[in-house]
Amino acid sequence: MTVNVVLGISGGIAAYKAPDLVRRLRERGADVQIVMTASAEEFVTSTALQAVSGRPIRSNLWDKEAEAAMSHIELARWADVVLIAPSTAEVMARIVSGGAPDLLTTICLATEAPIALAPAMNHVMWSNPATQANRQVLEERGIHILGPGIGSQACGETGSGRMLEPDVIAAQVVALIGGKGEGLLQGRKVVVTAGPTREAIDPVRYITNRSSGKMGYAMASAASTQGAEVTLVSGPVNLPEPPGVTVVQVESAEDMYTATHDAIGDTDIFIAAAAVADYRPAAVVQQKIKKNDEAMRLELVRCPDILASVAALDAAPFTVGFAAETENVTDYARGKLAKKKLDLIVANRVGRDCGFDRDDNAATVLWNNGEKQFPTASKTELAHDLLELIAEHFYAMRGSETQPKLTVISSND
Ligand code: PMT
Repeated sequence: MTVNVVLGISGGIAAYKAPDLVRRLRERGADVQIVMTASAEEFVTSTALQAVSGRPIRSNLWDKEAEAAMSHIELARWADVVLIAPSTAEVMARIVSGGAPDLLTTICLATEAPIALAPAMNHVMWSNPATQANRQVLEERGIHILGPGIGSQACGETGSGRMLEPDVIAAQVVALIGGKGEGLLQGRKVVVTAGPTREAIDPVRYITNRSSGKMGYAMASAASTQGAEVTLVSGPVNLPEPPGVTVVQVESAEDMYTATHDAIGDTDIFIAAAAVADYRPAAVVQQKIKKNDEAMRLELVRCPDILASVAALDAAPFTVGFAAETENVTDYARGKLAKKKLDLIVANRVGRDCGFDRDDNAATVLWNNGEKQFPTASKTELAHDLLELIAEHFYAMRGSETQPKLTVISSND
């Protein structure tokens, strides 16, 4: 399947990766039309980009000859997806404001195709409230934000703001528009749980936890990128639905249990990244509880253990748990691996400054006779690496089946 990609390149140092990105997109069957901003030309030459894309580079809205061949409106219609990589803070702000001073932002206004941005900037610029507010508006409008990753930056500092690697971007963009047909989990069914659950106390109050759903959503996205048919059973979170993934929204642990078992059918791999409540109120009070007494007692009962129940099925899928621990992380995780009869467990430390509700995470994956550590990375990048290991173990367990080609991923410059 040929996919028409308008690749917008804006003026950041990560533009030097653009030729590699074009190559990765073309490997996946994309026809790539590059549109550069004026400042992008400071970082990468149009000669190089023309050579790798095989198409003349567009940059000027007022180029009569180019407009006569394919006008900016025709380009906007031609695109199956508009990808901007790297996307600077300035380009994000311009798209938010609806301004169209150049060819790239004009196409963004004129297209009905999905738009994806791969931000790249200094980590302080990325965490600036103005940039974060713009990111939120863009996501609310359905624009896909890919990354950014975490790591060393061109400015010599370290943090969140690195453009994702070209291979990761290319895989995500192709998955975004349903261009599957390749990848490590092609033809496989994957069910992922994510986010917290809410256990009602009365009609206005509930018990919950600090899970944002980011880790589980990243796992679902990564599995979809690898060609799997993915169902994501999600507790209440504020995240856009990952493209190409079937999302089932639930609230309580009971709801999540039911939705998971409804979805599990002939699933190949189950990944439990949700922070499911262990206990819920024994009874939900029907009217709002009044504060008449100085103290009150709440009786709690155990919630069903979704992960253990899936692992105990007669035809259980390859089952991957997560363990969120504040101390003795790997010891406790190994206990859960054995007790819940899992194939793999992803152990991560949680606390005020790690694990929950952050864009990054670190983990150790444990199995019966081994383990592997994954250092801190963005949840997007970590999820891709975890998926690679999960697929390796899944195919090893299935023995006779052939493992398809790896679609992933490099990490550092
Ligand atoms: O959502 P984020 O903000 O991105 O944070 C990510 C995360 C820290 C929530 C995630 O990485 C993680 O660790 N998820 C598992 C959280 C958890 O509930 O861990 P646990 O050690 O309490 O539970 C062990 C396993 O049993 C988990 O796979 C959990 O999904 C599962 N479980 C637990 C209780 C229950 N009633 N049913 C379950 O299925």
